[in-house]
Amino acid sequence: MSKVTVVGAGNVGATCANVLVTNQVAGEVVLIDIKEGLAEGKAMDIMQTANILGTNTRLTGVTNDYSKTAGSDVVVITSGIPRKPGMTREELIGVNAGIVKSVTDSILKYSPDATIICVSNPMDTMTYLIHKTSGLPKNRIIGMGGALDSARFKYFLSNALNANVTEVEGIVIGGHGDTTMIPLKRYAAYRGLPVSELLDAETLDKVAADTMVGGATLTKLLGTSAWYAPGAGAAQVVGAILHDQKKLIPCSALLEGEYGEKDLCIGVPCLLGRGGIEKIVEFDLNDEEKALFAKSAAAVHATNEALKDVL
Ligand code: LAC
Repeated sequence: MSKVTVVGAGNVGATCANVLVTNQVAGEVVLIDIKEGLAEGKAMDIMQTANILGTNTRLTGVTNDYSKTAGSDVVVITSGIPRKPGMTREELIGVNAGIVKSVTDSILKYSPDATIICVSNPMDTMTYLIHKTSGLPKNRIIGMGGALDSARFKYFLSNALNANVTEVEGIVIGGHGDTTMIPLKRYAAYRGLPVSELLDAETLDKVAADTMVGGATLTKLLGTSAWYAPGAGAAQVVGAILHDQKKLIPCSALLEGEYGEKDLCIGVPCLLGRGGIEKIVEFDLNDEEKALFAKSAAAVHATNEALKDVL
């Protein structure tokens, strides 16, 4: 038996719960929200798909009652306000920091052994906030951004290559921000073949640029932040942990010297298993990538400064 709690029944949280149920990732899923009836309604709607889709996962929705989340193995935090068109993720910090801190406290009261996956924005800073305030070991606090950004990178790569998206590989490291993420172009691969030899430099640069503003593009189209891929990305991280999959997924992790940085959470390749982040996989960045990573880390540090009022 495995239990997962998703905090926040907005678009991202509900989508995450839906993927967890549809793919039978956990035995039991609890969806919790502060808005009366919202989590109950979404859970009921999702559970009415269960017979049609043939899934055995049980989902329940609750309003505010954290005792119902007790004993969760993994908790996904999606709470907070989403960005509106033209807003950066960083602009959400004041409101979302207070929410994420109080949610984390409530969760740990009932599930002290949980591994926490942070989705709330600004994601790297919210992940760092959980580190600073929860007392949990670093392997059990994971920011989801890199899973999403890498999925978007692979989507744009597959379009440019006219390829099946499942045959494309690529990873994005650095901060989960429009100017801070780093799609690693030289490692992008199509069935093991280097994409850098299949696409011209200009096309590959456009793929990287589209990836970086992937979230902003959707916010502009939808009038609010995206949810299908963010929810599915979070569910992918949940599955890797619950099922001890030893998957390499870029996630926001606390660095203590890895990649030359410390005292911040930022996207790096993480080996995920039952122990949460079981290993941060390090490899040599070239000079250009090193410079981009240092710049990205400086930007995340600067955003973290705004936490002073909360910490
Ligand atoms: C995005 C938001 C969820 O990238 O950060 O779509």
